[in-house]
Amino acid sequence: MVMKTERLAPDPAGLDRAADLLRQGRLVAFPTETVYGLGADARNAEAVAAIYAAKGRPSFNPLIVHCADLDQAADLVEMTETARTLAKKFWPGPMTLVLPLRPTAGIAPLVKAGLPTLAVRVPAKEVAQELIARTGCPIAAPSANRSGRISPTRADHVLTSLNGRIDAVLDGGACDVGLESTILAPVPEGTRLLRPGGLTDEDIAAVLGQPVLPAPNASTPTAPGQLSSHYAPAGTVRLNATEPRDGETLLGFGRVEGDLTLSNRGDLIEAAARLFESLQELDRRGADKIAIAPIPDTGIGRAINDRLRRAAAPREDLSA
Ligand code: TXA
Ligand code: MG
Repeated sequence: MVMKTERLAPDPAGLDRAADLLRQGRLVAFPTETVYGLGADARNAEAVAAIYAAKGRPSFNPLIVHCADLDQAADLVEMTETARTLAKKFWPGPMTLVLPLRPTAGIAPLVKAGLPTLAVRVPAKEVAQELIARTGCPIAAPSANRSGRISPTRADHVLTSLNGRIDAVLDGGACDVGLESTILAPVPEGTRLLRPGGLTDEDIAAVLGQPVLPAPNASTPTAPGQLSSHYAPAGTVRLNATEPRDGETLLGFGRVEGDLTLSNRGDLIEAAARLFESLQELDRRGADKIAIAPIPDTGIGRAINDRLRRAAAPREDLSA
């Protein structure tokens, strides 16, 4: 789909327009002090699905939610004492905290790709702060580049990669840090460094009074973007099913009618928006054998299929 991408100035009119678009469920790239983010209303499942479609991401990686301040972040996640200490010291700034999501937060499940935790951050760049304040909603934003390209630090970089695929870019000039935020997970054992970034280990250790813990390895379920980290339903999963076999619950798509459906009208963005909540709903219904209709392997369908293949893969023996 090709659309006209508006280039907005960081003045009151441009900020109002950007905020309006976001509230309508549209995609707006905006500058932070680290890199430009591709923003959408984090509570709007279809808007969040459209982020993945615009980026051409072949899988669902959990996204960072950008907040106005510590209070707004604390409405979304359970702030531990350590998290609060870090937040008071480094927010606004290039630090992201991964914390347990509050069930009442109203965040679309696709934002966190089915994980129980949510990544939150309060950006320091004034344009970003003004945009979040005007929008009045938490903004989910990955870096504003097509999948596999480098993170953009100027509006021109964003347009090179995403022109015609997003609604607008708010041009706030160059990003100062130019490197993505440091991602930390305060856990009972200490504070884990999930991604090095704009803040140094030494800065963090000085505040914590102890060294940061290394990221857990790939087999540990809290690592970012890793295979084992994502949500899998409790039941077994069979893919490319056009009808259910004995005892199976069918998740439909398009012409394949199921017990529930990802999208009646065969819309891949709607399907992506519903994916994680549908898998969770199957668990709630106690489905022990799940069959899933074929999903076209084009556009965001590739990310859906990537996720479904993981859900269908043989389970690791977690007791081993
Ligand atoms: O500086 C930044 O962080 C920029 C600006 C726009 O804020 N954003 C950014 O987003 O770099 P992105 O999507 O390119 O990278 C987000 C990283 C991913 O590696 C993802 O796996 C990790 O954050 N992440 C998000 N939620 C997570 C969670 N619940 N648990 C672990 N890792 C998470
Ligand atoms: Mg990125």
